[in-house]
Amino acid sequence: MWKHLNQLEEWGVPIVKNRQGYRLHEDVELLSKPGILAAMAPHSRRMLKELLIVDRVDSTNTLVRNRLAETAGSGFVCLAEQQTQGRGRLGRSWVSPFGRNIYLSVGWEYEGGAAVLEGLSLAVGVAICDAIKGLGVVDVALKWPNDILLEGRKTGGVLLEMTGDPVGRCQVIVGIGINFAMPPDAEIDQPWADLSGAAGMTRNLLTGAVLSELMPLLRDFQSRGFRHYREAWERFNAHRGQRVRLTVGREVVEGILCGVSDNGAVVLQTEGRQRAYSGGEISLRGLE
Ligand code: BTN
Repeated sequence: MWKHLNQLEEWGVPIVKNRQGYRLHEDVELLSKPGILAAMAPHSRRMLKELLIVDRVDSTNTLVRNRLAETAGSGFVCLAEQQTQGRGRLGRSWVSPFGRNIYLSVGWEYEGGAAVLEGLSLAVGVAICDAIKGLGVVDVALKWPNDILLEGRKTGGVLLEMTGDPVGRCQVIVGIGINFAMPPDAEIDQPWADLSGAAGMTRNLLTGAVLSELMPLLRDFQSRGFRHYREAWERFNAHRGQRVRLTVGREVVEGILCGVSDNGAVVLQTEGRQRAYSGGEISLRGLE
């Protein structure tokens, strides 16, 4: 116990020391497997192959990728209290301090390669928003393709990675980061928010709610495709009808955001015509 607390302190975890001994600061609620399972809908719980919680890892996506290389299959879930090399989209890093937020990855296997996965990361965004909204937070929205916004500021994101055959049997690693109680001095280079103000919410409840939405989505996505989730995505669309700027490699395009297509591309009205843009390297900024 003593050794464990010392280790946690070395990792930057707030420890309270007094005459009675050492304890974790009350703001830190550790992830708990029973807590998460209790917060999940039974049909989603049955889709879990394994739920692994680790204290510290480079990236939960890397851990799941390595596990899939050993044992293929769907439903392996990994959560970490801390990531030392958390990754974001577009080669960015993902700030991942101990015990504060949610760092979650799920492995799933599909037939049909990259083609069947079109729009999956957007649909995952819908699942996360549904979970957050289901816990009573109203002002949650999506910025294309899958940034989770709270009152207009980034609160979460999705990083999808793929292994296996790009046109056949492949494994997807769905990585989700949600800011729950980010330290105020966190070095994040864009406006951000977290869920610390949400009454009654805990990391275990939120994780259970996210997994409850996510597991059936991952199971059904191959047969349904993004088309099934498009309308729900639009309901969370933060920029519909607004002027936005897309950065596509070196090209910059501005226009009015009309919506998303059945395969998850973003559709912009520019100079009197509509054009769809898709691909992992595109970033979007609202201009209003
Ligand atoms: C983004 O840039 O918006 C995507 C962020 C994804 C972060 C999550 S945290 C769990 C998983 N492991 C990682 O290294 N990244 C994802």
